[in-house]
Amino acid sequence: MFFPTDVLTVLTDQRTEIRHDQVRVPFELDRPVYEQVDKVLRDMGGRWDGRKKVRAHVFPYRIEEFMRQCLAAGEYPSKNEQGWYATPPALVTQVVDLAGIRAGDTVLEPSAGAGAMTADIASRGGLVDAVELDERRAQILRSQGDCRKVTEADFLGLDPLDWEQGYDRIVMNPPFNNGLDHILHAVQFMKDDGILVAIMNQGLMWWSDQKSTDFREVVEEVGGDIERLPDDSFAVSGTGVRTCLVYLPGYAGSRLRTHDWLMRQPRQLDLFEFAA
Ligand SMILES: C[S@@+](CC[C@H](N)C(=O)[O-])C[C@H]1O[C@@H](n2cnc3c(N)ncnc32)[C@H](O)[C@@H]1O
Repeated sequence: MFFPTDVLTVLTDQRTEIRHDQVRVPFELDRPVYEQVDKVLRDMGGRWDGRKKVRAHVFPYRIEEFMRQCLAAGEYPSKNEQGWYATPPALVTQVVDLAGIRAGDTVLEPSAGAGAMTADIASRGGLVDAVELDERRAQILRSQGDCRKVTEADFLGLDPLDWEQGYDRIVMNPPFNNGLDHILHAVQFMKDDGILVAIMNQGLMWWSDQKSTDFREVVEEVGGDIERLPDDSFAVSGTGVRTCLVYLPGYAGSRLRTHDWLMRQPRQLDLFEFAA
């Protein structure tokens, strides 16, 4: 989306403060201009915090570098494009804690958005590779510098066999409309003893289609868990979508089709060829 001219003028005004996760306009605006600014900032994922000590639009991710690039381009990604709902900070901590990331672990974030989770993962010493479909969000991820590698691509179109090794951890908040496809694809990038943690549409806890029921069975079999998240978990990002948290630990011999499992297949085929 292009910034309306008046909004661009306000946001590039030297008096406007854009720091960390906040945008503050410390001068008077005409009502119609204020409304336009407010609309754009909300559309980018911000929410107005009118408390005296804040009085700013607060974002669930670091807006500073992101805004600099958007203003330079004159364009911004709307939060609803391609199902972008940034994970709020408290939930990021919960997800990354659950994944148990240790310094030096390789971590995949396959729908990384503007990096709400990659920053936390990197701060714990995780070596994080990100995939993101949206060109501008992929650029933001690169400029933030938290990731070892950023791939701008449709994750579902990536072939796990193009990766030499699987990941120790996979942490994800995929688009809500086809989240389970993303999770099942991501398992193929995980080591046998890896852990996958995903935020998913809460429907996964009761959907009765074959794919969802099979998945719940596998989660139980490997000692994983699907936990309901509070209904307002994404309120700060402007959506009331109900979510759950999937914890999927792998182990050698489980029926998960992990990256290690895929890598073992050619050797098995060789064996059969030899036997023939
Ligand atoms: C719900 S948002 C979550 C963003 C980020 N993981 C976070 O926690 O803040 C989903 C992200 O997935 C991206 N996305 C959608 N479809 C994708 C695909 N097929 N491959 C890679 N990324 C995709 C969207 O552009 C969006 O940024």
